[in-house]
Amino acid sequence: MSTPQYVLAIDNGTTSIRAIIFDHAGAKIGTGQLETTQIFPQSGWVEHDPVEIWNNTRKVIELALEQASLTASDIAAIGITNQRETTVIWDKTNGVPVYNAIVWQDTRTQSIIDQIAEKNLSEPDLNRFKSKTGLPLATYFAASKIVWILEHVEDVRQRAESGSLAFGTIDSWLVWNLTGGSSGGVHVTDVTNASRTLLMDLEALQWDPELLSAFNIPPTLLPAIVSSSEIYGTAVELLHGVPVAGILGDQQAATFGQAAFSQGEAKNTYGTGNFLIFNTGEEIVHSQNGLLTTVAYKLGNQPAHYALEGSIAVTGSLIQWLRDNLGIISSASEVETLALSVPDNGGAYFVPAFSGLFAPRWRPDARGAIVGLTRYVNKAHIARAALEAVAFQTREVLDATNADTGVPLTEVRVDGGMISNELLMQFQADLLGVPVIRPVVAETTALGAAYAAGLAVGFWSGTDELRALWQEHKRWTPQIDEEERQKLLRVWNKAVEKSLNWID
Ligand code: G3P
Repeated sequence: MSTPQYVLAIDNGTTSIRAIIFDHAGAKIGTGQLETTQIFPQSGWVEHDPVEIWNNTRKVIELALEQASLTASDIAAIGITNQRETTVIWDKTNGVPVYNAIVWQDTRTQSIIDQIAEKNLSEPDLNRFKSKTGLPLATYFAASKIVWILEHVEDVRQRAESGSLAFGTIDSWLVWNLTGGSSGGVHVTDVTNASRTLLMDLEALQWDPELLSAFNIPPTLLPAIVSSSEIYGTAVELLHGVPVAGILGDQQAATFGQAAFSQGEAKNTYGTGNFLIFNTGEEIVHSQNGLLTTVAYKLGNQPAHYALEGSIAVTGSLIQWLRDNLGIISSASEVETLALSVPDNGGAYFVPAFSGLFAPRWRPDARGAIVGLTRYVNKAHIARAALEAVAFQTREVLDATNADTGVPLTEVRVDGGMISNELLMQFQADLLGVPVIRPVVAETTALGAAYAAGLAVGFWSGTDELRALWQEHKRWTPQIDEEERQKLLRVWNKAVEKSLNWID
């Protein structure tokens, strides 16, 4: 039998699931993609159906294999990358989820966070576990979502304590199903996903007893923490016998796919939200400016690499909101044409604080605001303000990164769906004041997961080989001066002030 020539990556983002097959040069050979149904049962709640996610995963794998005219025997390894923090609990005996997946954007657990912030303290402290986890207490991370399911779904706490249930982020759910589900699935998560739960000690890379007890989460629920690149098990069903060998949270995967392997390298992804990741090497750097500290990757037995992260909750999902909730565009790609039909934002600014504000402000009390409205403002100005909001929020996290590291970034590598939007990319370069660069392979998230899996099975020799595959495709350079940039930022800051203190 000939040696397999391809690696398959499964990328479960917030809005869609993709399977992408890559060859040895990192080129895309076949793709399958399906949308994920977004479930909004109440204001602030966001859910996915885990069974739909798994069924669609199988379908997209089939679609990708079909498009590339390949079979399982052509695939050397499978890599998984996923929306992080999104929480599933299922019954290990039959594979049935006890509740829908609670998505990272969901804010229903604010009261649980508030209780933990003040438990046994005289003053509430949202940063009480920050030195251990790298994270502030926030609804964003998995821990409070687990607690919500334990407290609100009948019998679940008792079943969890008896050891029959499993918790996982979407990586765990997919690996468990891929490797056999209730008839023998492997229950693992990688260090990057575990670092988004509020339950892992960043230095020990283990679940932490103090944190589990603070949240009152039974340890039997938890997956084993593994590295981002090793053989976890082999697939059954349609990829029968292929090793599942890489897991990276999607933002870490994009960092890996951008070949930002070393200290001082960074990327910014424009997805459902935006996520700027700055690699700090083997050093754990604690932010003084509202960034998260997270695991970047860990290859097998080698030491972990860490990162600072600026997480922005709403960017691409704002364009979906213009389409689905306002109906001012009929497809996401129309936003650029609409925005280009006017010369500027007409004075309108849009602060999309739909889940409060994440990095660098961390304001759960904020809510969305469109300000600066006059009779002159029309839907094209709103479209433009929405795109500009993506760039303004990114400027805030870049400032925080520069302040934390003391070494200003001189360029930013970008990826994700919105980088095909020329208007946005130019405005982004204008606002940042440094070049914005896109690589030839824009699917860096899936590519990063493929790289992690391929490294584990010797398909690629090491990160030096992968670095050599990265190629620049296009760069946008700043076209405005500092005075104009500062003026824009001043107005943006006034707009953000209007969105704060909205929730008591
Ligand atoms: O932390 C949430 C993040 O992983 C979601 O990523 O790609 O769905 O925007 P994405």
